[in-house]
Amino acid sequence: MAPLACRPTRVSIIGAGNVGATLAQRISEKDLADVVLLDVVAGRPQGVALDLMQARGIEGHDRFITGTTDYAVTANSDVVVITAGLPRRPGMSRDDLIKTNAEIVASATQKAMTYSPDAVLVVVTNPLDVMTYIAWKVSGLPPRQVMGMAGILDSTRFQTFIALELGVSTADVRAMVLGSHGELMVPLPRYSSVGGIPITELLDEATIARLVERTRYGGAEIVDLMKTGGAYYAPASSTCIMVEAILLNRRRLLPIASYLQGEYGLNDVFIGVPAWLGCSGIEQVLELELTPAEQSALTASAESVRQNVKTALSLI
Ligand code: NAI
Ligand code: 2OP
Repeated sequence: MAPLACRPTRVSIIGAGNVGATLAQRISEKDLADVVLLDVVAGRPQGVALDLMQARGIEGHDRFITGTTDYAVTANSDVVVITAGLPRRPGMSRDDLIKTNAEIVASATQKAMTYSPDAVLVVVTNPLDVMTYIAWKVSGLPPRQVMGMAGILDSTRFQTFIALELGVSTADVRAMVLGSHGELMVPLPRYSSVGGIPITELLDEATIARLVERTRYGGAEIVDLMKTGGAYYAPASSTCIMVEAILLNRRRLLPIASYLQGEYGLNDVFIGVPAWLGCSGIEQVLELELTPAEQSALTASAESVRQNVKTALSLI
């Protein structure tokens, strides 16, 4: 049978490690797009892709998953996701990864954009807010077409801990975490709720503080347990939500590392804020009313990212 002349939606994932491979699984099994997985380690992306292809009959989809080391194969992607880079080991902070990952992210972005100059770019590599800035600088894309994934992960962790504490379904819990992806993240209990009721009316201050602290160190808790790498199931699910919102133009309001141009009194920095996400990327950043304490936590978080961006730019 002659192939039909159509171009399936395509997502390229740069970095076929734990997050990249799991994301490829989520995207293909949700039937969202064909996936190209690219890695520097020859054999790894091809092996993962073949394994995922062999699950298609059981999972019931016809999406193509292709593994490669050649950027030409990623051409004309609708979305490019950067997961290439080192993960943390126990005792390391995300910022310890700056130099190595900045070089990897800069080179991967530049090569991917050569073949997909109109793609929406989603960055996952840590330190997230810094790497998103580096990727944007290298990409030449408008800022609204570049974004980082972290706020959804931090929020889903907070959501989980709230649900576990109250013994209720996670489906009824909404949680909001802004700021950078690290110890200076800004969980917002006032904007976190169960069935529409703010958690500040359901839990005492000490309990909320304990859940906030566990969220703040949610990634480190998993690194300490796993020892050889970090979390990847929830990170892949969180990234997939963004890919889905873009491909299906869902216009979802999500916490996303977005480029700020005056919003929240911040300029020239990528940081986690609520934003509407659709097919062209970030449509608009939502400016919540913050208390002075929340605003100063967000400002401090952004200042730390800005310092690390300076360091990263001086190292590459
Ligand atoms: P991993 O080590 O399993 O995979 C990383 C992959 O990148 C490896 O397969 C490696 O060969 C590849 N790679 C390295 N240099 C490359 C290059 N120049 N071009 C293409 N591929 C290259 O690590 P994992 O767990 O998948 O994490 C990936 C990154 O995502 C890490 O920086 C990690 O800290 C970060 N991360 C960020 C999260 C977030 O919330 N933003 C959540 C989870 C992970
Ligand atoms: C996490 O929060 C490693 O940033 C990653 O799990």
